[in-house]
Amino acid sequence: RPLLFSGMQPSSDSLHLGNYIGALLNWVAMQRDFDAYYCVVDLHSITVAQDPKELRANTRQTAAQYIAAGIDPSECTLFIQSQVPAHAELAWVLGSITGFGEAGRMTQFKDKSAKQGSDATSVGLFTYPVLMAADILLYGTEQVPVGEDQRQHLELTRTLAQRFNSRFGDTFVVPEAYIPKESAKIYDLANPTAKMSKSAASPAGLVNIMDDPKVTAKKIKSAVTDADREVRFDPENKAGISNLLSIYSSLSGRTITALEQEYDGRGYGDLKKDLAEVVVDTLSPVRTRTLELLEDPAELDRLLAVGADKATATAEKTLATVYDRIGFIRRR
Ligand code: TYM
Repeated sequence: RPLLFSGMQPSSDSLHLGNYIGALLNWVAMQRDFDAYYCVVDLHSITVAQDPKELRANTRQTAAQYIAAGIDPSECTLFIQSQVPAHAELAWVLGSITGFGEAGRMTQFKDKSAKQGSDATSVGLFTYPVLMAADILLYGTEQVPVGEDQRQHLELTRTLAQRFNSRFGDTFVVPEAYIPKESAKIYDLANPTAKMSKSAASPAGLVNIMDDPKVTAKKIKSAVTDADREVRFDPENKAGISNLLSIYSSLSGRTITALEQEYDGRGYGDLKKDLAEVVVDTLSPVRTRTLELLEDPAELDRLLAVGADKATATAEKTLATVYDRIGFIRRR
């Protein structure tokens, strides 16, 4: 089976609808056809300040949401990044073949650091994409299912793999981003030209898996749309409606064209009401299952430890080859 790797940050107590559609849905669909590695990337989360107690809770809660959404730990390798030291170790090596300017051109870094100011921005945030490259390259990953916002990081990963291979000999598989068009970017419901994100300007635009279903329904029904009444997919002129159609299509498996036809001549109210039901029916079982899984944290930790053992075995082999190729003397 071809190898697949992906991960999400445990930087809040809930994943959001963008994470669910942009990543998790594809992860679940792909886990049987791929040798899949799904990681909770806690090392990435600490590049912005975290409260230790919350980080610990959010890490378990993120893993629980993966499982609740359908990730099967017996079918794939599910683990916590910091439990496999090779991630940080390979990141150091890759950081040493990454240009300072090259890392500085990452748009996510530029956006985040511009918001925070340079002294509040950590060096870890700057080297974040290098750690992400290490995550991917350790496992011989072929496919990386992510949302559109990760495309540039994947390009850097490919560049670093090729650079290492040409300097030190063929070592890494050069991975590909897997970014299906329909699910690539879900927008904020209250501000449909901005990406849905944890750091949303207002909570109204952000649908969380762990929200109360009533809150979710209300957010969908209050989504910002436009003044005409035509249900038509046209992201440039009708960002709000187009976003609702993308969400609807991703969660129902129906095509956008079929949805446009169904709602032709009906008001936006009908579309929103039906979509609210679809979203609630999708997310509320995930939320319930997550809460159940969290009742037994010891069992969750045990499942994650099994994953970490499996991941460690593969990762250490890659790291040993890398250390050898760059000229480190291996301890006997
Ligand atoms: P993170 O934690 O920000 O997001 C997790 C996944 O959700 C996708 N996503 C979205 N997709 C569609 N619409 C949105 N509004 C939306 N918001 C988020 C992201 O693209 C991502 O796939 N750097 C990564 C984590 C990471 C990683 C990796 C991913 C670390 N190492 C190795 C893949 C492979 C991140 O910050 O994702």
